[in-house]
Amino acid sequence: MEYSIETYGLKKVYEEVTAVRGLDLRVEKGCFYGFLGPNGAGKSTTIKMLTGIVPPTEGEARLLGIPLTRQPLQIKRRIGVVPEDLCLFENLTAREYLAFVGRMYKLPAAVSLRRTEELLALLGLADTHKTLILEYSHGMKKKISLAAALIHDPDLLFLDEPFEGIDAVASRTIKEILQQMVSQGRTIFLTSHILAIVEQLCSHVGIIHQGELIAQGRLSEIAGGQSLENWFVSIVGQGDVDTAGLSWLGGEVLR
Ligand SMILES: Nc1ncnc2c1ncn2[C@@H]1O[C@H](COP(=O)(O)OP(=O)(O)O)[C@@H](O)[C@H]1O
Ligand SMILES: [Mg+2]
Repeated sequence: MEYSIETYGLKKVYEEVTAVRGLDLRVEKGCFYGFLGPNGAGKSTTIKMLTGIVPPTEGEARLLGIPLTRQPLQIKRRIGVVPEDLCLFENLTAREYLAFVGRMYKLPAAVSLRRTEELLALLGLADTHKTLILEYSHGMKKKISLAAALIHDPDLLFLDEPFEGIDAVASRTIKEILQQMVSQGRTIFLTSHILAIVEQLCSHVGIIHQGELIAQGRLSEIAGGQSLENWFVSIVGQGDVDTAGLSWLGGEVLR
């Protein structure tokens, strides 16, 4: 089995919080992997460790078969990431920013320019010639971050909540781009709270809860015939929640 992501006992401790506790992930090459978990479960921290944004406290990882700590640059050339906090240079226009990213990846200028125009057209941002990124809406910033993550045609793509703040039309386009990438053998590792999208896109899912991987497998097999939402809530939820837990929804009258 060829893996794009392997982690061995990956752990992250932030001062008082252990965000990720000994994660052993296996993500097969060419799969579309949905990494799910409730708020604060450790999803973003995992992506940050795997993409070199924060160092792991303990443990090891291999991306595309390459050890993370020993050859980080060799890995960074071949991965793309849309991180939680987008980390854009906001005093640039979209075209200036993508030209900069293209240069970082050493793309020939003509290729970078062509890909920039294709990406901007596809994402509905082609008319933003003079607009600085800082003037963009949150959804537009997400789109630019995605364009920057795609411009060098990565073999492995990390997406932290890529659909959050994105309109339905752009979501459709993005889903199609991602599906096309996977059909050509690229690997995608995505976190999303939108389970309907995960169900539509992902071939495999992993669930992290309180920093631990509590389930992992092929989507078609793992949920045992239930909807992803029912399965997810049944393993990480608080059981049946009673709306009478909110006193005023139970018929409280203030006089
Ligand atoms: N920079 C940080 N400093 C301290 N604690 C953090 C930091 N980033 C995340 N955490 C904590 O680590 C845990 C996991 O956070 P995170 O990975 O962002 O979860 P998720 O993305 O699944 O919502 C949370 O308890 C969060 O408060
Ligand atoms: Mg997060």
